[in-house]
Amino acid sequence: MTPAKIRARIAGTGLYVPPKVLKNKDLEQFMDTSDEWIRQRSGIEERHVIEPGVGTSDLAVESARQALAAANCTPESIDLIIVATLSPDHQFPGTSAIVQQKLGLETTPAMDLRCQCSGFIYSLNVAKLFIESGQYKRVLVIGAEAHSPLLDWTTRGRDVAVLFGDGAGSVVLEATEDNTGVGAVTLHAQGQFADRLWIEKPGTSKGVWMTDEDVQQGKLYPIMEGRYVFKHAVERLAQVVREVLEKEGRTIDSIDHFIFHQANIRINEKVAELLQIPAHKVHNNIQKYGNCSAASIPMLLDETIRQGKIARGQTMLMAAFGAGFTWAAAIVTY
Ligand code: COA
Repeated sequence: MTPAKIRARIAGTGLYVPPKVLKNKDLEQFMDTSDEWIRQRSGIEERHVIEPGVGTSDLAVESARQALAAANCTPESIDLIIVATLSPDHQFPGTSAIVQQKLGLETTPAMDLRCQCSGFIYSLNVAKLFIESGQYKRVLVIGAEAHSPLLDWTTRGRDVAVLFGDGAGSVVLEATEDNTGVGAVTLHAQGQFADRLWIEKPGTSKGVWMTDEDVQQGKLYPIMEGRYVFKHAVERLAQVVREVLEKEGRTIDSIDHFIFHQANIRINEKVAELLQIPAHKVHNNIQKYGNCSAASIPMLLDETIRQGKIARGQTMLMAAFGAGFTWAAAIVTY
């Protein structure tokens, strides 16, 4: 008898955002912007931001504790921790190592994965393969971001700063022999467009970590060619959704929920329109949290599950696009 195929199922999810809320109106104090501009262009109404003394790992740990409680397991039962983030506590070591220590663990392996807004889906794929191969039984996957300290909160940085928020989402994946869990995944990257959405410095490029001139020119802040990114995001998301459906021999109709990255509500509306996805199947929470990069998908997943909208046995499709460019999609049965 051939042994049953091992799959990686979602055992529990968690979400954490710092308590401080910045509404669109509040931003008018630091920069030339308006609630109307932000809402119309992106759908965002408010975002959560950290206060001094808190970093990405703190958000990650809070969301991880919730996911562990939902999965009814202890930190000690985790075989591997993966943290997807573009806003690490330090350049090195990885934030995953800090999270491991804060969870009270001694030698559990921990790795960071840097694929920006697609980071959670890339991490899900890595976790899935570790579990399906039999190497690990339970993997904690976290998407966590504290963007607020790295944004330019002046009019110079307004096209980027108003779009982002801080938060974390976690998922405990565990081995199962039933038919649920992570199915087909597709991953893509195109470094040709790296400088369309990036933070250039500090970094080792051109042999210099950072100069005074880099600081003066604002190279420590993210820059984005908004319209260019928007256009690519819509095209690539629609493509990758079709691709992952085809990989599993499915159609849009057979998917119960679409959990898209939360970069801009207009991107998700356009993708839904192109693919003719019924609006009630597309979940969004960018209104409350802004773009939380690698954390957006696990945060939306947790919130939608806790609202009772996703039932065990239902199938969802996750898709993301972000800096790199990177883009990815996964089909998951809850
Ligand atoms: N408040 C007010 N005005 C602002 C502003 C702000 N926060 N940010 C930029 N503007 C101004 C610009 O200076 C520009 O003014 P100008 O026309 O006088 O030069 C104008 O608004 C730009 O408007 P427009 O180009 O029409 O904006 P847009 O419709 O392209 O929307 C984004 C801008 C950024 C919201 C949109 O391009 C976007 O969502 N891009 C993709 C974002 C994304 O997905 N990023 C992350 C990927 S993970």
